[in-house]
Amino acid sequence: MNTKIVSFCNQKGGVGKTSTTALVAYNLSKMGYKTLVLDFDPQANMTSLMLKTKSQNADDIEVINNTLMNAIKKDENLLDTVIPISDNLYLIPNAVDFSLYGRFLENTFEQEKDKVSFLSKLLKRDLVGHFDFIFIDVPPTLSLQNDTAYFACDDIIIVLQTQQHSLDGAEDLIDYIQDTIIDEFGSNVIVIGVLPVLSKRGAAVDAVILKKAEELWGNDVLKTHIHLMERVKRMDITGITDNPHDTWDQRTLNTYKNVAKELVNKIKEE
Ligand SMILES: Nc1ncnc2c1ncn2[C@@H]1O[C@H](COP(=O)(O)OP(=O)(O)OP(=O)(O)O)[C@@H](O)[C@H]1O
Ligand SMILES: [Mg+2]
Repeated sequence: MNTKIVSFCNQKGGVGKTSTTALVAYNLSKMGYKTLVLDFDPQANMTSLMLKTKSQNADDIEVINNTLMNAIKKDENLLDTVIPISDNLYLIPNAVDFSLYGRFLENTFEQEKDKVSFLSKLLKRDLVGHFDFIFIDVPPTLSLQNDTAYFACDDIIIVLQTQQHSLDGAEDLIDYIQDTIIDEFGSNVIVIGVLPVLSKRGAAVDAVILKKAEELWGNDVLKTHIHLMERVKRMDITGITDNPHDTWDQRTLNTYKNVAKELVNKIKEE
């Protein structure tokens, strides 16, 4: 399989991008796909979640002695920043110094196209070919920084919270990707799906928004819907837990496994 670079995107904060990315990536790794998660957010939530996941099965604490920003500035091979988390699952961690990335791009390149395509070239040079999937976990902004991530992707899944303004936000983001990232800068990225994240179990507004989403995007709306699960929140503290005898672990993981399967099928149909 060729490497697929994928991102779960929404310009809004706290909609479940990082949790979804982590749990889909974890499931793909269990399905046998060699999967890398690139933490692209100086908040480093993904880094913290993955390192907690790792520490459940390892005695020694992972020491990160280089940062992504540093590796980029010194033009080091990104493969050297990869940390193994579990079988088939890998992480490139992030740290707060990554907030300088936008400035680095502005100072390093003159042409807008060179700024936006920087990450894509770097991933092709160092990481593409080494993994089946590379997930980029982006922060909640529309910015040059995220443009480089969207540009580098093969496939984007829009995370849609089922609220009216989220529907508008998702439409805006899809237009932005089409007009700016694809038409203006020439990326080959495809918006491959829209993942509904429900606000409350059984809430009437969810059904209304889901119907509107299906009218707008048809089959691009994933059949799997993410509902609120306490176990996902707990994993912020514990890391990803996968106890075969724990029903809640298994139910939670299974939801995201269905997203992983849909993603694989959509990619096969491309
Ligand atoms: N399905 C879910 N059920 C319950 N809680 C969830 C679910 N998905 C995510 N959460 C919780 O919601 C919070 C925000 O999730 P997450 O960090 O994944 O969002 P995000 O979109 O990545 O945020 P940011 O934009 O800040 O990066 C976290 O505490 C997370 O545990
Ligand atoms: Mg996040």
